[in-house]
Amino acid sequence: MIVRETVKAFERLGFGMFVHFGIYSQLGQGEWVRRQMHIPAEAYHSLAATFCPAEDWAEQLVRTAKEAGCRYITLTTRHHDGYSLYDTRGLSGFDSMHSCGRDLVREFVEACRCSGLLPFFYHTLIDWEVPSYPDNWQTYMEYLRSSVELLCANYGPIGGLWFDGMWAHPDRDWQEDALYGLIRTHQPACMIINNTGMAARGRLGHIELDSVTFERGKPQPINLDDSPKYIASEMCEVLNDHWGYAAEDLNYKSPAQLIRELAECRRYGSNMLLNVGPMGDGRLRPIDREYLRLIGKWVSKNDEAIRTPRPTDIAVEGKPFNFILRDGNNYYLYCTELEMTADANVASGKGAEYIQTFRLDGKIERAYWLDNGEAVSFSQRDGITTVRAMPFCYGRSLVVRVAKLICAGSSIN
Ligand code: GLC
Repeated sequence: MIVRETVKAFERLGFGMFVHFGIYSQLGQGEWVRRQMHIPAEAYHSLAATFCPAEDWAEQLVRTAKEAGCRYITLTTRHHDGYSLYDTRGLSGFDSMHSCGRDLVREFVEACRCSGLLPFFYHTLIDWEVPSYPDNWQTYMEYLRSSVELLCANYGPIGGLWFDGMWAHPDRDWQEDALYGLIRTHQPACMIINNTGMAARGRLGHIELDSVTFERGKPQPINLDDSPKYIASEMCEVLNDHWGYAAEDLNYKSPAQLIRELAECRRYGSNMLLNVGPMGDGRLRPIDREYLRLIGKWVSKNDEAIRTPRPTDIAVEGKPFNFILRDGNNYYLYCTELEMTADANVASGKGAEYIQTFRLDGKIERAYWLDNGEAVSFSQRDGITTVRAMPFCYGRSLVVRVAKLICAGSSIN
């Protein structure tokens, strides 16, 4: 099986931020607004004239991503409405150079580089703007490839390309060999991802693809038995119900749910790409920023548990939804269902304890909670390890706890 180091390195990034941003962000009704509201082309084009993000929009986004503990950011360089956030160098007049005279993708890439985050480019495969789509297919394919080539050639090394929209015309010839081939020519070390959409989560596709996608869904283990190459997986998720900014979307998930989803992604070795939709000026809605900060509190305490450790098939008994990841001689016991019962906490300052058992092939030398460094109480006998999992004491509730178990190289049996 071919194993590309790029794919392994992508898995170690673990957690990324997705950004849906475009002229539609000014309307605050999501990224599909042109279609959903049947906005005539002329009216929609006028949004390009007023689109002028704050000078520091990219720096602010990157700052929030860092606070959240993200290691990469995937920006919509062009969404289905056909508007490009980059300099299309004459390919199209519907780009940010013709709006505010700025190459917003360049600003984004520079902000990422300044703070050590890896930039990824989302690019649509559907285009509601360009006349060749979808009837003049060959012309459209060439336009698409030229557009992608600009992104590959003009912004230095990038983390990857993230395509979206093939699900709209699954029977068309998307000429994937040519599209991916040109990416490999310019960016040999980048990831190529193509979103299979909600109806086909986790489906393997073209041999050049480096990751499967799980749009708004729980990842599953991927079966690579018949695959000639090693492939990563990534789950993208929304804070509420929209990717692009929607002012009246109040349907936010809880931060706890999102933290559990991140843990659940890592259980299967999948990355999580958590979306924000900035407003028209490029600023995040305060609640979005605060969500990312809260999640960042959890990530900063448990960072090592979501980077290098990989899934194991060690079964944990005693409480459902717990699992163990492994990194060499270190094991990470994820406790995702610890409950802080109000009575127990207020009366004693503690929650109820859980006893968990599993088979571990190693002698534990030291065990502690990543979130506060306190020792984890455990015993080992006849190949069975028993751990007392403690919920948080009254005063904090970080949702998911991770116990780090440091083992000696030798076996206990
Ligand atoms: C869907 C939507 C799109 C969004 C994407 C993100 O494919 O069409 O608006 O960008 O999901 O995964």
